Amino acid sequence: MAYDESRAAGYDRAHAARFADAGAAVATLAALAPGGRALELGVGTGRLAIPLAGQGLEVWGVDSSPAMLARLRAKPGGDRVHAVEGDFARAESLVDGEFDLAFIAFNTLFELQTQDAQVQCLAGVARRLRPGGALVIEAFVPDVTQLDQSVAVTEIGDDFVRLAATRHDPPTQTTVTQYMIVRAGAVELDAWSIRYATVPEIDLMAQLAGLRRRDRWGGWRRQPFTAASSTHVSVYEKGPPKAAAR
Ligand SMILES: C[S@@+](CC[C@H](N)C(=O)[O-])C[C@H]1O[C@@H](n2cnc3c(N)ncnc32)[C@H](O)[C@@H]1O
Repeated sequence: MAYDESRAAGYDRAHAARFADAGAAVATLAALAPGGRALELGVGTGRLAIPLAGQGLEVWGVDSSPAMLARLRAKPGGDRVHAVEGDFARAESLVDGEFDLAFIAFNTLFELQTQDAQVQCLAGVARRLRPGGALVIEAFVPDVTQLDQSVAVTEIGDDFVRLAATRHDPPTQTTVTQYMIVRAGAVELDAWSIRYATVPEIDLMAQLAGLRRRDRWGGWRRQPFTAASSTHVSVYEKGPPKAAAR
């Protein structure tokens, strides 16, 4: 998944509404580990990590994109985030010590393209949590009835149309979407692929990692999670260390 220079340059603008609404996520995350150590997987340009560091947490962030990390570092407060370049599927080996909180926001877990990588990621992160520490995952709730092969018009402007052509592979739970911006005399393509996981599957991955679910909300304002929720914010907790066998 390439967050190259061009995608990084447009990231904050493309997600301006999410940036404007980051306060609820930051407040919820900060309340889970007041003044503690937090680790964000896929920290990006610091949408959550920078304000969280401003709340007095020691924040670490892993990301594989130099272009995204450069933008994080250039922002006011960006120097307060310990930014590490690397693959968060093996975040355990990229950071030291124990964390009170780890989190993966904005569907970023799904950017790992296989179930194995997602399982490995959660297991490694769990090993970096202190007993009682929390892992928070924000992701969309997959609706397989909406994921079939499709072409959709996602935006129409005065001089362009934006189309999204999606191919869905149910056995691997992957989708590949080709976004097309069509203008007079030119077509731009931007491919995007994810490996989605259902809510119960994420619970099972967490359980395999030795975590138990503590909370689930329908969003960062801790609204109730219902059958109609399109997003979940799930909080998993690491139990106490196992007593040594006698
Ligand atoms: C959707 S953005 C989220 C950024 C930020 N967390 C936010 O909420 O605005 C996903 C980020 O995850 C990073 N990423 C994707 N796959 C990764 C991987 N395997 N290892 C490290 N970073 C990854 C991308 O470079 C990108 O910055």
